[in-house]
Amino acid sequence: MNVAVVRETLPGERRVALVPAVLPLLAKAGWDVLIESGAGEQAGFADADYESAGATIVADRGQAFSQADVVLQVRCLGANPEAGRGDLELLRPEQVVIGMCDPLGNPQAVQELADTKAILFAMEMIPRITRAQSMDVLSSMATIAGYKAVLQAADRLPKLFPMLMTAAGTLVAAKVLVIGAGVAGLQAIASSRRLGAIVHAYDVRPVVKEQIESLGARFVELQLDTGDAEDQGGYAKQLTEEQVKMQQQQLADIIADCDVCITTAAIPGRPSPLLVTADAVRRMRRGSVVVDLAAERGGNCELTVADEVVVENGVTLLGPTNLSSEIPQHASQMYAKNLVTFLLHMTTDGKLDIDLKDEIVCDTLAAKDGQVQSARLRDLLGLDPLVLPEATPPADHLASKD
Ligand code: NAI
Repeated sequence: MNVAVVRETLPGERRVALVPAVLPLLAKAGWDVLIESGAGEQAGFADADYESAGATIVADRGQAFSQADVVLQVRCLGANPEAGRGDLELLRPEQVVIGMCDPLGNPQAVQELADTKAILFAMEMIPRITRAQSMDVLSSMATIAGYKAVLQAADRLPKLFPMLMTAAGTLVAAKVLVIGAGVAGLQAIASSRRLGAIVHAYDVRPVVKEQIESLGARFVELQLDTGDAEDQGGYAKQLTEEQVKMQQQQLADIIADCDVCITTAAIPGRPSPLLVTADAVRRMRRGSVVVDLAAERGGNCELTVADEVVVENGVTLLGPTNLSSEIPQHASQMYAKNLVTFLLHMTTDGKLDIDLKDEIVCDTLAAKDGQVQSARLRDLLGLDPLVLPEATPPADHLASKD
């Protein structure tokens, strides 16, 4: 069986789906690896590195697609809306594509891929269960983004992060506020703390208080009843209009007093909640920085413009949408490990074994047999539900939600 990695075609994308270090794991399970020449270049991996790890280099994309049983990508159509379309004519029925395709944000792209009769697995849909943690690309990429957001803020801030007592006087530590303490937010807190900032953090889910405090930050409590703000999957629920207004007003006072505000608040499949109003930004000190990690879904800050730098009243606002690609080597390393774990989960005796009774496989399957498979995506597309085999109960007690 052949698994191929092709060059990423989204402009500016520097990650690659496999790194040389994971190739022996695939070989051991019976997979031959094909790499499109230059696929790892932007992440720091030369063709020769892949060759010495056992891969075969193929000259062009068409060749990679035509020889592959499984194609691995970082961004396929959906997460690469324009250039990704070029792959449609290269796909053949029953060929497997595994990658990120922004299924909730762009379900129409999943339909287009389904029309080729290829089999698509959307890595964003890996269930957030303990058993699947090592395949969780959202957590991997959010970890990188949270770290890089802090570096970008530190780079723009006209102050140091740590408190310094020097012969030239005392420099006061920067104050950082992190809004949304999921995976990216917790990494932003930890990274800001490592740089010596005073960190406050807020999340609508009160359960994260302990995690925030364990990282040395202070939990911001608002006068807002959000006791039921978490759904069964552990994600935040959408707030009522009145709750949103109260949240914005109370946060504005806290934002006004911070040097850096990093926002990461998201609700799966919905536009980002608006938490930092234009007025709140205008109340910040000149030189302050806002990094809005929710920019891809409209942003948590009213003034964010995706992938642009906005300066309002001396405050710099950044809205990066592909931060993990800016640390391509480690981002690729994590992504590759997630991908290989998933592929090996579906490999039995050197053959691909798509077991739809397995919760991880079933939840991640986006398209097969010419149809969009996921119930959630079918609902978004206005399609009737498909009848799927019943999921096998997890083999171990660890499969419960964290
Ligand atoms: P996310 O990217 O969907 O959202 C980021 C954060 O924004 C969340 O903490 C959310 O509560 C917060 N948020 C949403 N609306 C908000 C609002 N109006 N105001 C303030 N904060 C708001 O979340 P992420 O990082 O993907 O993680 C979501 C959940 O999944 C977390 O509970 C996390 O612990 C859990 N998780 C579980 C895993 C596992 O068991 N394998 C792996 C990774 C995450």
